[in-house]
Order: sequence, then structure tokens, then C-alpha cells
Amino acid sequence: MCGIVGYIGNKKATPILINGLLSLEYRGYDSAGIAVLENNKIVVMKDKGRVNNLNNIDGINNLNGTIGIAHTRWATHGKPSKENSHPHLDNSNSFAVVHNGIIENYNELRNFLTEKGYTFISQTDTEVIPNLIHYYYKNGIKDENVFLRAVKSAVDDLKGSYAIEVISPLFPNRVIVVRKDSPLVIGKGENENYIASDIPAILSHTKNFYLLDDNEYAEIYTDHINFYDSSLVSHSKAVKNIEWDASAAEKDGFEDYMLKEIFEQPNSIRETIGSRLKLNELCSFDDLDLSKEYLQSINKIYIVACGTAMHAGLAGKNAIEKLCRIPVTVDIASEFRYRDPIIDDKTLCIYISQSGETADTIAALKLAKTKGAKTLAVSNVIGSSITREANYTIYTHAGPEIAVASTKAYTSQVVLLVILAIYFAEILNSTPANLLNDLKADILDLPVKIETILDQLEPIKDFAKKVYTQKDMFFLGRGTDYNVALEGSLKLKEISYIHSEAYSAGELKHGPIALIENGITVVSILTDPSLVEKSISNIQEVITRGAKTLVITNQNLTNKHFDFVINIPNTNPLISPILSVVPLQLLAYYISKNKGLDVDKPRNLAKSVTVE
Ligand code: M6R
Repeated sequence: MCGIVGYIGNKKATPILINGLLSLEYRGYDSAGIAVLENNKIVVMKDKGRVNNLNNIDGINNLNGTIGIAHTRWATHGKPSKENSHPHLDNSNSFAVVHNGIIENYNELRNFLTEKGYTFISQTDTEVIPNLIHYYYKNGIKDENVFLRAVKSAVDDLKGSYAIEVISPLFPNRVIVVRKDSPLVIGKGENENYIASDIPAILSHTKNFYLLDDNEYAEIYTDHINFYDSSLVSHSKAVKNIEWDASAAEKDGFEDYMLKEIFEQPNSIRETIGSRLKLNELCSFDDLDLSKEYLQSINKIYIVACGTAMHAGLAGKNAIEKLCRIPVTVDIASEFRYRDPIIDDKTLCIYISQSGETADTIAALKLAKTKGAKTLAVSNVIGSSITREANYTIYTHAGPEIAVASTKAYTSQVVLLVILAIYFAEILNSTPANLLNDLKADILDLPVKIETILDQLEPIKDFAKKVYTQKDMFFLGRGTDYNVALEGSLKLKEISYIHSEAYSAGELKHGPIALIENGITVVSILTDPSLVEKSISNIQEVITRGAKTLVITNQNLTNKHFDFVINIPNTNPLISPILSVVPLQLLAYYISKNKGLDVDKPRNLAKSVTVE
């Protein structure tokens, strides 16, 4: 999805902008560009394709300007092309704009501006913005604040979501930014300031950030920043220290971010557990103050999320229902918001989002708020949009996740949801303390158990080599193993482009078994002792029909005629997804590598899906 970078200071802006864009590549994009103020003019250099292509544009290395804005575009309106790339200029080349998000009423605004004599070069929704700014500037009183007022008037006309940066040679000492429903942060330096849609883009320059709020404006100068609300009333804003390590956002010697993030899981889980869970002590959340009275009043919980985060929600449902006996429904955010869900003040809605910027999840959260439910966000990104909308937030603390395919965020989300379930159960007194304590011991053992799985890569690599040319694959499981099958199948699809389906093993004979033919690969997850025998029978059914089988199990299975078996450590079924997903992540990774694909940036996908 689109990324934004900006700089104002005393250094050459161009390398800072390009490096910032490079560290945002993981968001997914199809074109890139920069605009720099140079000798009282705006110089725009942009093209479709990779950020690195910018370095080949004639003259880019000679730009000396110290104020600039930059963008990676992921096409929504208009195909990927140089014309449609950002930054966009107004007709008089007085204002350059980059924009993340979607302007829903751009057609109407385009017609309005066309009537006023403006013309358009691109098919984008964004190009209306610099022209609207010019229109209001031209018609405004020419005092020191005319630039800010013109931006505000233009923004007042916009419907949709946006994070916007604007520069102008008429006001060569500032960058103006504003956001609504799309992230934007300002990094504070010494006599210089940075702007980005995502913290990792500028983390190597500063750890001090201002997290811009919805409808908030900032006028950024080299040595100070003015903040304004939506009526342009100025206010002060606290700087936030973000202790992410810049090197944590780099590859650390791993071939790809995805592999690095898979290997980070023992540590990211330790961070997620933090001081929230200790043996023989009640769980505690610094960031939650839900009373016993409130928890007793809840008659229903919704867990709402997209993709992998939704799969983590399925594990959360199992834990909450088992330990707290409160009914939980897991919903896909893009469905939830349109299906008129039954929500009232006795409903708790939990929203899971690694990025905290997923448009569908945020919209689903806003819906629940309007219906009087309490909302709880589970996110990995401090200060992200979802955390600012929700009544409560608990952070996964998994560290930056760069690869598009989510791995460590998933395992941290599951850990956090299970800890949350224990915390609720302790308040509600709904599960005996000794059982909860056993589960706590199992959670604390997870990091070491994952390390043992990561020590045995060879069988997974071998299997990946054998199956990477397949066109279709199937993933089977029952109960919590079915939830993991869904996640394994999604991981495979998104980074290897192999068609795959996940089925509940018991459902197979109701239709999908018709697809099983000689030589097809079926991956099965068998970890829940109460369901193992039944699942084995289902696997025998596919073996009989010629399937090649890989079984991931914590059970002692002998003489079952499986082609490959990967053994994983035993644990409580409520948290077994955290272990069984690791071989599936690695399988998808090595299959993708065998196919020679770009593991971190799969086609058509974006890390942060900020459009509906
Ligand atoms: O940032 P979010 O957790 O809200 O993202 C949700 C999904 O877009 C995300 O999990 C997606 O499915 C991943 N690419 C899966 O690997």
C-alpha cells in the first residue's frame, strides 16, 4: 500500500527520501517519486516500478534541496504509470502533494475544478488536491497563514481517507501535513524533521515521534512544528519516544524479512508475554481496567479482523470460550461491517490488526462504537489508527513486521489472546486456578519449544523441494488444527502462488474429497489428542485416493503410511497453533524460495491494506 516520506532540514533531502522509501518497500507498491524544493522551484522525479529506479533518473543525484516529499504508490485510481505516480502538482507548479488513501468524491471535485479552468494529467484521485489548494490560495488573503488556510479549505472539500504532505516554493521553509484514517508520523530531529506513513521509514534518524491524529494539521519547519486542530486552532503536542531498534527493521543477516521474522518468534513471544503472565500469579494488563462487574455483564464477544489476524482470532475464540464460557463469534471485518451484527452495550468487540491501519477492521470498530459496545484493539503498532479509535488497546510488542506474509504477528496475537482469556477467567473465576496455572507454564515454555522446531529445518526444506512444482495443495485439521490449516493454506497461497484449500478434516467427505487425485499433496495437522484418531481416519481416506501426505504432529504416530512426518513438541491444545504454525510458515517460505519468488513482496499484496 502507498507509503509517504518527507524531510525538512539542512541536509540534502533526496537520499533521505529515497532511503525512507526503500524501507517502506515492504508495504507493496508499483511506482515511486519525490518532489524537492530546488532554487525556488519544485522538481518532481517519479516513475513506475521500483524505488531504486529513481536513482537512474537524470539529474536526481544533483538535487541539493533540503526540503522534500516522497511517495510509493499502490494503484487504486489509474494504472501504474509515471503520470499517475506521486507527487502531483497543481497547474501552476506551485504546490506538490503526496497522498495516501482514497478521495471518494474526486470526480465531483475534478468537475468543479475543470469548470474553473483546471486541467488534469493523471487519472488519479490525488491530482485534485494540489489544484484545490491552488484554487483556495489564489482566492485567499495573502498573509503568512494563507498556505495553511488553503490546505485546510481543500481538505474540507475531501471525502474519504488521506494522509497528505504539501510543499510549495511560495513558502519554501515548511511542509504542511494532515491526516484522516490514514497514518502519518513526524520524527523530531535536531534542526531537522522527518515525516513518514510508517515509523520504520525514519527510525534510523530519530526515536522521537509525534503521532498525528485524525483531522490534525502540522506545519513543519526545520526547527519547530506547529500543530492545529481541524479548525486551525493551534495546540501543543507531546513527543513520544518509540524504543524500536532500527536494526530490528533490517534483515540482520537473514536472506529475507520473512525468514528473519519466523526466527524471531521465540523472542517476540517473550516480549508479548512480558510481565503480563507469571507462574502462580494472577495475569495483569497495565493497559486494561475491565471490572468483574463489566465482564459478568458481557453476553457475547465478537472478534473481528482480516486475513492472518482473523485466523489468530479463531484461536482466541477457542481460549475465551473454553476458559470463560462466554460465546465468541469470529468475523471477517469486511463482512462484519455490512451484515448488521447484533451489538449492544453487553457486547465486547475485539479487533485484531498487526498494522492497526487495516481500513475494514477500523470501519468495523467504528460501527461497534456507534452501537454502544466496548471495543478492545489488539495491535502491534503503537499509536496506530485502530489503537486511537478503540476504548482499550493491548499491544503484541512483536516488533516491526516487514514481510507482507504475517508470521511473528500471528503467534504473538494468539499468545496475547490466550493471556487475555486467562485474565478474564481469573476475574470471572470461571476455570480452576490449577488448570490456568498449567496453561501458564505451557505458555512460558513456548519460546524454547519454538527454538527446537527452528533447529530442524532439513525435513521441511526436503519436503518443499519435492512439492514446489505442484499446482494445488490441501491442508486438513480438526478443531484448533483446522484453524492452523487455514493459516498454513493462506501463507502458501500468498507467497508461493500455489492454489491451496484448507478444510476441516471431517468435512472432506461432504464434497472436497472429489478433488483428491493421485499425487496431490495433503498437509495435515494433528495435535489435539481428543481428535487425533478421527483425523487419522480422514487422512487414510486421502491416502487411499493417491494423496502424498505430510503430517505435522505432537503425537507418537507409527506405521500410519504417511509420506512425511514433522514432529513438534507437545503443549496445551489451546496454544498448539503457536507451535504447529511454524513448520507451515517454513514450508510456504521454502516452497516460495524454490520457485524463485520474491518472498517478502508477493505480487498484488500490500502489508497494510488501508483501502476497503
Ligand atoms: O495489519 P493487519 O493485521 O490488520 O492485516 C490483516 C491482513 O491484511 C494480513 O494479516 C494479511 O492477511 C497478511 N498478508 C497475511 O500474511
